[in-house]
Amino acid sequence: MFFEHRSPDWDRYVMDYRQPFRQLEPLERESRVVEDALLALRDAGILPHINYDREKFLAHRQEVASKFEIPWTAITPRMHRLIYAVNAIIQPKVMVAAGIFCGFTFICNAGAAIGAGKCYDAERLIGIEIKPEEAARAERNVRKLTDDDSVQIIAADAVEVLANFDGQIDLLYLDADGAGRSGKGVYLDILLAAWDKMRAGSIILAHNSVNLANQLRHYLEFVRNSGNCRVSVNIVVDGEGLEVSMK
Ligand SMILES: C[S@@+](CC[C@H](N)C(=O)[O-])C[C@H]1O[C@@H](n2cnc3c(N)ncnc32)[C@H](O)[C@@H]1O
Repeated sequence: MFFEHRSPDWDRYVMDYRQPFRQLEPLERESRVVEDALLALRDAGILPHINYDREKFLAHRQEVASKFEIPWTAITPRMHRLIYAVNAIIQPKVMVAAGIFCGFTFICNAGAAIGAGKCYDAERLIGIEIKPEEAARAERNVRKLTDDDSVQIIAADAVEVLANFDGQIDLLYLDADGAGRSGKGVYLDILLAAWDKMRAGSIILAHNSVNLANQLRHYLEFVRNSGNCRVSVNIVVDGEGLEVSMK
């Protein structure tokens, strides 16, 4: 089954990539837009409910804004809140994020289990980044929030790491850009490498389901095929989009 959820103003909601924490709309509106997206995910059977602690999310955002070095990002404030909320609701014991650049997308996910936004205990939170200098920056950023060894930043190719991964993955976040080779098409390679470590009910989040849908066409065909994923929902709260799929 495939669904799409669009916020009415998704194409007019635009950020400055170099100012990720600049407020673009009243917080109540941001919160309502994300709540509508969470309702769509609940109605699709992906989320059990839509409740998350909004104050903890704001504390997490404030902590990341004050401590992280982020050269640029296309993660809008709505997308940040959405990714945090999905993690806070699902509470994955094992979360893996592939293609984390400076670590911001990693913490959007892991922030539900570490730092000021912590609302549950995870077992393993893993970020994978192929560029060693960006992996080192991500490590520096993340260590400002935690020294817990359940958190691991790995400088390597996510396809190789996941092909050799030991254990089960509850939530996989995809944002690798193929480092100049296949572009975002690498999502499908990463997902296939992880596939046998994902149980029925595991969640996959894929950024850029809207603006890079063409590069992602094989990936999107795969997750929207009910022979592979039970359900997949394209969440369009901004011009980038997030495909949320359940194995
Ligand atoms: C540019 S970032 C995505 C940015 C993110 N969407 C944002 O808005 O903040 C993509 C990252 O994926 C990394 N990457 C590309 N291929 C990869 C792979 N096979 N394994 C791990 N990381 C990879 C790149 O080095 C890059 O840092």
